[in-house]
Amino acid sequence: METTNNVNAMPRIGDPAPSFEAVTTQGKIKFPEDFKGKWKILFSHPADFTPVCTSEFMAFGAMAKEYEDLNCQLVGISIDGLYSHIAWLRTIKEKIDYKGMKNIEIKFPLIDDVSMNVAKLYGMIQPGESTTSAVRAVFFIDPKNVIRTIMYYPLSLGRNFDEIKRVLIGLQTVDNFGVALPADWRPGDEVIIPPAGSCGVAKERMDDKKGDLHCYDWFFCTKKISKEEVEAKLGK
Ligand code: BEZ
Repeated sequence: METTNNVNAMPRIGDPAPSFEAVTTQGKIKFPEDFKGKWKILFSHPADFTPVCTSEFMAFGAMAKEYEDLNCQLVGISIDGLYSHIAWLRTIKEKIDYKGMKNIEIKFPLIDDVSMNVAKLYGMIQPGESTTSAVRAVFFIDPKNVIRTIMYYPLSLGRNFDEIKRVLIGLQTVDNFGVALPADWRPGDEVIIPPAGSCGVAKERMDDKKGDLHCYDWFFCTKKISKEEVEAKLGK
């Protein structure tokens, strides 16, 4: 297990996901090794039994099947103990009826990180915001265990779970089709073809009237990939 006492340690995009062992609500895990071959979303919340975190867990719990279908394992973490986690998740399931979501059972692992070891390893303790709880971090980790996207939100602002799913789908689309994705992309929108290597090729692309490329300028060419084509490859 990698460890650090340095709250300034911060894994970056492109780094291998730091490895750790932990106790969770679903038993012991070795992360990310236990989930190799799957996408992983490792996300922290500041504290159990708090309202923003409860709304977030319900949102994630309600979408669990969608993440499963995208071959993505969700793993939560906070600086709370196992019994707090168990009691909080039971309260969510048995008592909370929020925005049409009720009876939400969280089946993905929630890490006991009372030691703060995992939160420190992943740069989730940001002392200007809080020294005693993790910020709302989201790490997207690919099937080869490489960190691909990182998000950080403050304690007082709940995350957008539609955006989290859009990022996962976007990363899978980038990998499967070898393309880049423009602002606000969603499946079915045009995708960006990486710039060609030489000006000659770029000119050819600009003049490609019959092909499926659409060039806004020599460095900015797109093509259409249908929603169905994208969806057929997702999760693979
Ligand atoms: C919340 O989840 O409601 C929360 C947690 C920590 C600080 C502020 C809000």
